[in-house]
Amino acid sequence: MPIVVPRSFALKCVLFLLCVVLVSLISLYKPAQLAQLINLEAAATEDEDFVGLNEDDPRLIEYIRQHVIVPPSTEPYNLYYGVNHDPSDGQSKVIDELLNHKLNGFYIESGGYTGEVMSNTLFFEIQRNWTGILIEPNPRNFKKLLSRNRKVHSANACIGETKAATKVVFRNENIRGDIFHSHEYYYIGYPWDLSIAKCFPLYSFLLALGTTTVDFLSLDVESSEYKVLQSIPWDKLDIKTLSVEYNLIPEGKPALIDLMKSKGYIHYMELNRPYSNDLIFVKQEVWDNSKVRKRALPIIDINNTMSWIARSNFES
Ligand SMILES: *[C@@H]1O[C@H](CO)[C@@H](O)[C@H](O)[C@H]1NC(C)=O
Ligand SMILES: *[C@@H]1O[C@H](CO)[C@@H](O)[C@H](O)[C@H]1NC(C)=O
Repeated sequence: MPIVVPRSFALKCVLFLLCVVLVSLISLYKPAQLAQLINLEAAATEDEDFVGLNEDDPRLIEYIRQHVIVPPSTEPYNLYYGVNHDPSDGQSKVIDELLNHKLNGFYIESGGYTGEVMSNTLFFEIQRNWTGILIEPNPRNFKKLLSRNRKVHSANACIGETKAATKVVFRNENIRGDIFHSHEYYYIGYPWDLSIAKCFPLYSFLLALGTTTVDFLSLDVESSEYKVLQSIPWDKLDIKTLSVEYNLIPEGKPALIDLMKSKGYIHYMELNRPYSNDLIFVKQEVWDNSKVRKRALPIIDINNTMSWIARSNFES
């Protein structure tokens, strides 16, 4: 009796084999640019031999001082909207109130973006005489940032997600730049603008600048926020207030709030605007000394933002 193979079964077999071939082709394929980057990553020059150094390793701190931190500009400001414009989405005002209009403070802003549009710290620098550091990994944005002549330190780098220095593949998108994780490699063929970025622990930046007190940490790193905060040695630092973008973190907003509460912070406000989804945190003792007593949660002021966006030339 002849063996009869049903036609539909044969068809299924062929389709299955085609699928197997297709999947293996996809998994073998890496975009040329990415392959190039991976080679670049492998070939570190001698002065870049910082990968894996621990956050307080003196060699790492020296490397950051010598090769990463750009000192404040001594040139006059070069701002598109001038020195009297607060380009933040409201964060500066909230933090300023919480800190009783504190003068001569210190901030960290990451990402620094292009140094003006949407800057949460320009107000403190100009109106409150603060100093600090702007951290921005996207080379194009960083160039623009330097052209503003801000009177604070800058670094073309990122704040890392771990307690050691790393190099990562960074995705340079105009307004949304982030660390490109290997599980995203399946987005093949898309013309991502990728580069290698140096990431350092937040603590290392502070040691390099000789301070451990931060009056305001503005953290907007497009999905790494939770991991960055989790890696901070809170017992060695005094961070008084934070504005943290929450809407892209895979851990979720409640986990972020829990983490910050466990470190002694009050979840003071949620700020939702077209370009900001931030949680504002304030350290318990700072809150106790603040003249602000009312908690407004959340604030949504669409009108204000719309008029601001109309004036915000992102390419300026
Ligand atoms: C502003 O800050 C600088 C140091 O960054 C300091 O020398 C100066 O006295 C401050 N000015 C005022 C008015 O506090
Ligand atoms: C926004 O502005 C318009 C016109 O200026 C006004 O009619 C409206 O009530 C405002 N909306 C809010 C939520 O303030």
